[in-house]
Amino acid sequence: MKKYSPSEISLHTTKKDCWLLIHGKVYDVTNFLEDHPGGEDALLHASANGDATQKFEEVGHSSTAFSMMEGYLIGVIEGYKGSVGGGEGARKTKEAVGGEPVKARTLQQRKPTSSSSFLDLLFPVLIVGLAFGAWYYLTFHSKAKA
Ligand code: HEM
Repeated sequence: MKKYSPSEISLHTTKKDCWLLIHGKVYDVTNFLEDHPGGEDALLHASANGDATQKFEEVGHSSTAFSMMEGYLIGVIEGYKGSVGGGEGARKTKEAVGGEPVKARTLQQRKPTSSSSFLDLLFPVLIVGLAFGAWYYLTFHSKAKA
């Protein structure tokens, strides 16, 4: 994956040559300007502003938009630490509206669910165990008495 410096990215902000920096990834959206449902000005302004991530997130783009983006990906910014995997991760991120916090929320939601389903299983087992213990104790006890 090619790496671009911020200064290089900032050289591409015109209608004939427009790059966007979103989530540390660099997109060449020159051919997409006219087709963008949000208008070409939105993209040009976002491009000129440097990092378009915030604007892009504010709009709450659909998963369709996220998968479209992958087609315009040309590289990442220098020092980029995220995954360069692409579509799938980005799409999940979006569906929950915006990146890691949402992923974390999804995981947090899952945890209680899985632990409570574990308890659901444990509970009947405990009851059966107790019943068996009681039966064993009573049988043994009454035999000891007899
Ligand atoms: C490669 C980057 C981008 C792609 C592929 C993209 C794609 C799209 C798509 C497909 C839509 C239609 C609605 C949806 O599916 O979410 C949309 C809407 C929109 N986009 Fe983007 N977009 C990009 C970047 C941006 C940026 C940086 C801005 C900055 C302001 C922006 C502003 C908007 C706005 C305002 C709308 C809403 C249009 C409306 O609902 O009337 N987009 N975009």
